Amino acid sequence: MSAILSPLDTPQQASAPEFSFGAADFERVRTLIYQRAGISLHAGKQAMVYSRLSRRLRELGHDSFGSYLQWLERATGSAGEQEWQEFVNCLTTNLTAFFREEHHFPVLAAELARLGSKSLRIWCNAASTGEEPYSLAMTVIEALGAKADVKILCSDIDTKVLASARRGVYAADARGLSPERLRRHFLRGSGTNSGSIRVKAELQRIVEFRVHNLMDERWALGDAFDIVFCRNVMIYFDAPTQRRVLERMHRVMQPHGLLFAGHSENFSASRDLFRLRGKTVYERV
Ligand SMILES: C[S@@+](CC[C@H](N)C(=O)[O-])C[C@H]1O[C@@H](n2cnc3c(N)ncnc32)[C@H](O)[C@@H]1O
Repeated sequence: MSAILSPLDTPQQASAPEFSFGAADFERVRTLIYQRAGISLHAGKQAMVYSRLSRRLRELGHDSFGSYLQWLERATGSAGEQEWQEFVNCLTTNLTAFFREEHHFPVLAAELARLGSKSLRIWCNAASTGEEPYSLAMTVIEALGAKADVKILCSDIDTKVLASARRGVYAADARGLSPERLRRHFLRGSGTNSGSIRVKAELQRIVEFRVHNLMDERWALGDAFDIVFCRNVMIYFDAPTQRRVLERMHRVMQPHGLLFAGHSENFSASRDLFRLRGKTVYERV
């Protein structure tokens, strides 16, 4: 017996996509984002690329991916630079949270206490919207006090997330914050800002934001870092790219400095540069 379909069950005619996006267009995007940001997009990311970039096509008035990509590749001057940045911003994945991978923070606090009162430099790269660097700043204040001589350089390739990190405004129910930390480190918004929280000035005093692409040949970042957080970004890079980044990372760190990695990142192929010290915590050799 054939099933009876109500009007709601009637299969819908799939609507045609707004822009044509073929395999050759996807390959072109893959090549361009790999060259610019080191990000390796696998074949399953075609739908993601379509949905992230179609907004740019619409805003710029292109009627196909082919036309947009051709324009992008030929664009020069400040308009070109600006669109390359938009292209990168669209294709990065910025998922983050306060005190993500919580097991790292007691290790960080112990390292801060061990290093003690000397002036310290920390680098939080791939900092996204700021939850991670502010988690580091809270740990610094809790371990060493608000007057500690510590600076945290926070960087990312994505200018949009960095602008949001700089503002330091989050939803009051943001994941990962205990009620004590909310009280101690944040101001609650009122009126039209109710439902939002803002990091206190003493956290902002410690952090400094800067756009930095881990693919850049030259890393002019100042004095060597005592501690580096590089979490959940190497997963987007292939093995040769990871190796190049680790070699540069090694150059900008103090001997025995700690490097914190993401939960699915493993640098054991680069034991000559970084020795495993704990769960996804490495020591610069
Ligand atoms: C998934 S988020 C990780 C955020 C944070 N580190 C964490 O673990 O919660 C990855 C971040 O890496 C940044 N990123 C991707 N490619 C990069 C590159 N070549 N240089 C610097 N940052 C990059 C993205 O913009 C994004 O904000």
